[in-house]
Amino acid sequence: MSSNVRPESMKRITTAEQANAFIEEQIAAVRAQVGDKKVLLALSGGVDSSVVAALLIKAIGKQLVCVHVNHGLMRKGESEDVIRVFGQQMDANLIYVDATDRFLDLLAGVSEPERKRKIIGAEFIKVFDEEAAKLGAIPFLAQGTIYPDILESLNKGKTIKSHHNVGGLPEGMAMELVEPVKLLFKDEVRVVGEALGLPHSMVYRQPVPGPGLGVRCLGAITRDRLHALREADAILREEFEKNGLNEKVWQYFIAIPDIKSVGIRNEDRYEGWPAIIRAVNTKDAMSATIEEIPYPLLHHITYRITHEVEGINRVLMDLTPKPIGTIEWE
Ligand code: XMP
Repeated sequence: MSSNVRPESMKRITTAEQANAFIEEQIAAVRAQVGDKKVLLALSGGVDSSVVAALLIKAIGKQLVCVHVNHGLMRKGESEDVIRVFGQQMDANLIYVDATDRFLDLLAGVSEPERKRKIIGAEFIKVFDEEAAKLGAIPFLAQGTIYPDILESLNKGKTIKSHHNVGGLPEGMAMELVEPVKLLFKDEVRVVGEALGLPHSMVYRQPVPGPGLGVRCLGAITRDRLHALREADAILREEFEKNGLNEKVWQYFIAIPDIKSVGIRNEDRYEGWPAIIRAVNTKDAMSATIEEIPYPLLHHITYRITHEVEGINRVLMDLTPKPIGTIEWE
């Protein structure tokens, strides 16, 4: 297995030319490592696993088996994007598993955030293991480990949240790792992703926690509130993209608490949930500041969410920096 230390001589990858040279190098390395054997990859649709998938498709084609587990907590359109880009455009060997019911049944009634994270993380590994077992013995497991993951694991501080990264290594799996981007920083992974032909929106996608909307549908998750959250979040993203804020704001999303307030619709009493907008900027996610969003846009988003999403009758803006608030509510 190759070294986990980035050599001082390794230049930062910033251009397509450097990215192409890196890609060629890694294609040769992966081919030498795996020969004609199969490689398994949990493909979440996040930047790192997507770039690894695109690189390995180029290196070993159908020897790569991608498994995309939809845990039912994906943002709107995310699983569809994975199927379109990898299953159709790149013609990958892609197994799509819709495990929505399994996850939501297990999470029913569970309100404690860390417990929710643990259930989601453990169930993810279970589903992934089951799929792997159906495929027979596969000797290699590819992972989207990047250099900050390696640095972070050497440098673990006090745990505020367990930050389950679904798609992590199933413990006890006797597989050799294939980690072609493990010495790269995030910005380099993005340059490589674009050179591999991945869509800009996928490569520059904002970070999404492994448990997805599961930690934004606050308290015990219900299907109706989760659906409202997914729709409201899609409107927020659409409006931020239309107004260029997606390039300016590091992370933006909706959270919906498990409370209702009284409102009016069609001259009738209308009880609904509040949608909370969070839009933050940060360098390393350890601290974060609030991005100022123009009021006319906030009014427009409020109008759209309260008129287009069933169950939401108010929109609130979270102005809390980190610290004291964490970025996610749970
Ligand atoms: P917090 O909420 O701790 O978030 O301020 C910092 C960054 O981490 C993301 N986050 C997670 N990522 N699994 C992940 O993979 C998780 O369980 C998780 N919880 C928070 C969060 O979205 C932010 O980018």
